[in-house]
Amino acid sequence: MWKDWIRPFVRPLPQWSTVAVAPPQQVVNATLHWDGQSADVTTDHTVASLVPLVIATSLDAGQHPVLEYRDSATGKLLGVLRLTQTASVAAAETSITLYRVATGEQRCLGWPLRPWNAWLQNRLMLKNRSPQHFAPEPAAVQQLMIAYLCPRPVILVSIDTPGHRNIFPMDLIGPLQRSGLFSLALRSNNVSVPIMREVRQVALSSIPATMKAVVYKLAEYHKHPLQDWNALPFPARPSRQFGIPAAAAALRIQELAIVHSEEVGSHTLFLGRIVSDENLTEGTQLHHTAGFHQAYRRRRGTPFAEM
Ligand SMILES: Cc1cc2nc3c(=O)[nH]c(=O)nc-3n(C[C@H](O)[C@H](O)[C@H](O)COP(=O)(O)O)c2cc1C
Repeated sequence: MWKDWIRPFVRPLPQWSTVAVAPPQQVVNATLHWDGQSADVTTDHTVASLVPLVIATSLDAGQHPVLEYRDSATGKLLGVLRLTQTASVAAAETSITLYRVATGEQRCLGWPLRPWNAWLQNRLMLKNRSPQHFAPEPAAVQQLMIAYLCPRPVILVSIDTPGHRNIFPMDLIGPLQRSGLFSLALRSNNVSVPIMREVRQVALSSIPATMKAVVYKLAEYHKHPLQDWNALPFPARPSRQFGIPAAAAALRIQELAIVHSEEVGSHTLFLGRIVSDENLTEGTQLHHTAGFHQAYRRRRGTPFAEM
């Protein structure tokens, strides 16, 4: 229909697409390239901060590596981030390297749709921006979308102490495989950050794709704590060692012992070790990817199941 043809030229693609993917995602792989070397970092890189946009990995890939995202089935280049090393973080006898994103480009859309869609998206971001609201610059959001080419799984993080209990969704998470550490990047103004830095124990529930609506509602607990576990809109079960309430319907419940935390830009980066891992059931997990990635897959006839 002519409307389907004309739509991309008048309306921007959604920035994010909420999709169902069987974990661990293997549809896109990420490779770091530096000084004639390269290494697969599909399970060894994460977003550590949004403002500025910082990527963490357990590799030291020199001062100016390039991070490439490719479709695993076809090898097609989907996007590139050019990085600049800023710091290294020493944690638990290992170290993590932090990289600022300098520039980036997605290749999911062809020319002229690529710059045109970015222009439409950026215009909308600037229009909807409220002065008191936390919002990265449009160029950084475009780069963040590239970092989401590897679909990012959504989990619920729960904390339980006598004076503070909470459970909220996160997707700036993941293993930094070579170091054996698992990372969480949480906005430093999240109400549970000081408690997590103190008690150093959390439970992570991998969320089935079907729980999208209920999980999005829990985003409010980034700002205020949960009053009572009985107020949760779904049944909870205690995690194996710490006994922290987690989602009973989770695909998997892991416990994280936090070994290090520090502020990185707008976020606090928590690094920890997984101390227990219960695989409860198989199924697709809620993931986020970039809207232009879903548009690319739709064009090829292989869209992700959208939630
Ligand atoms: C599915 C989902 C995943 C999220 N992941 C993270 C995260 O990894 N780190 C973080 O600091 N905030 C995360 N948030 C919280 C949001 O960034 C935001 O702070 C929260 O939804 C409050 O939104 P508001 O500031 O627009 O009111 C997530 C929210 C949702 C719904």
